[in-house]
Amino acid sequence: MAPIKPISPLTPSPLSTMSTLQPLIISLLTCHLLLSGLPSSMAASGHGPQCSGPERGSTLRIFHVNSPCSPLRPPAGLSWEESVLRMQAEDQARLQFLSSLAGSRKKSSIPVASGRQIVQSPTYVARVQIGTPEQTMLMALDTSNDAAWVPCSGCIGCAPSTVFDPTRSTSFKTVGCQATQCQQVPNPMCNGSACSFNMTYGGSSIAAGLSQDKFRLATNPVADYTFGCIQKATGTSVPPQGLLGLGRGPLSLVSQAQSMYKSTFSYCLPSFKSLNFSGSLRLGPAGQPVRIKYTPLLRNPRRSSLYYVNLIGIRVGRKVVDIPPEALAFNPATGAGTVFDSGTVFTRLVEPAYVAVRDAFRARMRNAAVSSLGGFDTCYTVPVVAPTITLMFAGVNMTLPMDNILIHSTAGGLTCLAMAAAPSNVNSVLNVIASMQQQNHRVLFDVPNSRLGVSREPCS
Ligand SMILES: *[C@@H]1O[C@H](CO)[C@@H](O)[C@H](O)[C@H]1NC(C)=O
Ligand SMILES: *[C@@H]1O[C@H](CO)[C@@H](O)[C@H](O)[C@H]1NC(C)=O
Ligand SMILES: *[C@@H]1O[C@H](CO)[C@@H](O)[C@H](O)[C@H]1NC(C)=O
Ligand SMILES: *[C@@H]1O[C@H](CO)[C@@H](O)[C@H](O)[C@H]1NC(C)=O
Repeated sequence: MAPIKPISPLTPSPLSTMSTLQPLIISLLTCHLLLSGLPSSMAASGHGPQCSGPERGSTLRIFHVNSPCSPLRPPAGLSWEESVLRMQAEDQARLQFLSSLAGSRKKSSIPVASGRQIVQSPTYVARVQIGTPEQTMLMALDTSNDAAWVPCSGCIGCAPSTVFDPTRSTSFKTVGCQATQCQQVPNPMCNGSACSFNMTYGGSSIAAGLSQDKFRLATNPVADYTFGCIQKATGTSVPPQGLLGLGRGPLSLVSQAQSMYKSTFSYCLPSFKSLNFSGSLRLGPAGQPVRIKYTPLLRNPRRSSLYYVNLIGIRVGRKVVDIPPEALAFNPATGAGTVFDSGTVFTRLVEPAYVAVRDAFRARMRNAAVSSLGGFDTCYTVPVVAPTITLMFAGVNMTLPMDNILIHSTAGGLTCLAMAAAPSNVNSVLNVIASMQQQNHRVLFDVPNSRLGVSREPCS
């Protein structure tokens, strides 16, 4: 029984080092690559997973943590129900984490939820080369986190996985206590003359030395990338080979490589159920879609790392569902609103919004007998033809096809509506548009122009 611990967000610092990385290409959940950016000969070659092929030009592959290519995947043999329940449990921890980001410098106290062990696992991991000579780390990508941190050699309590060895890198530096960045991490301390800090993350806590080294994601390295070198960890929430934040804060990749990428990136997440998951993450304004509809990107001072948008309504089929406006309202004072997040698997809506959508969905199913599975309360044993669900943002209607709405058990013949109500025991609730609902869409984060683009793009 592990209680959820309070989480203190990393408060980031402004930096100005940059160089040029270019479009990245990602593949998720397996490495059978069929990517538009790759020569077809490469994409077509072989039937086995391509786990160690060259990362060409400015192309970076990104794997789902459960990919056959991922050394981090959990042991095989989980049943469908077990894996769904596991993902839901991870989402629960994730929601707690997102909620805890409110109140930028203060620790937020999070109510204890279930006695379940909290595992906050990364959904996607990317290869990042750190140091000189380079050491390869498979870091979790997280659009709702700012900082980067990696387990370093000698770490006490880190997962048995690859660690970064700073003594083998000639470009590694520690960050001094007097540096600006040191005042902007949580609980900064002076360890001799070097800055160190500690923080909690999900059910884990880490103690790390604030450090800088060369980070290379694709062709072009970013010099003096500021990150935490983890010396001590407790719990199981820390991604085994570290975390790379893509959030909005000044210590994120987006900010540390700002002169190169102009705080612009997009991704396409491939189908959740396809075995050939492949997609792309494109950094920088170059090569981004021209014809794409935008909705304003909002910044909420209560959770400044997150990418907020204005969700104004939800349609089930053609019918606009009756949702109390306050369930969707953006509120800078409380942190309430709607975010796009790559780290949550299933979309969560605040309770009145979820109930309204679910009831409309059930009505469209002609009120066929409903069962439940874990946190999903709308499951069917009969064949299901679901209505579309449209997320109506200011300026964009994002219509979700069936694949983005339903999860199917291949074995048990169970089909569930893959959304749930946000937990009501967190301090201020958020609607979270999660990865399953984003699949096969290009989502473009254009921070300088304060807009987020969405368009359909099959990338499975
Ligand atoms: C974290 O830092 C605070 C003070 O900065 C200290 O009191 C606490 O013991 C530290 N926790 C860990 C796990 O190192
Ligand atoms: C503090 O410094 C010592 C000696 O340099 C080092 O072994 C230890 O890992 C450092 N602690 C942190 C949290 O960086
Ligand atoms: C995955 O790719 C292989 C080879 O390209 C193909 O034969 C197979 O049908 C694909 N599977 C899915 C689920 O798309
Ligand atoms: C979204 O759909 C609604 C009708 O349900 C329509 O009134 C609105 O104009 C659409 N918005 C966009 C941006 O197409």
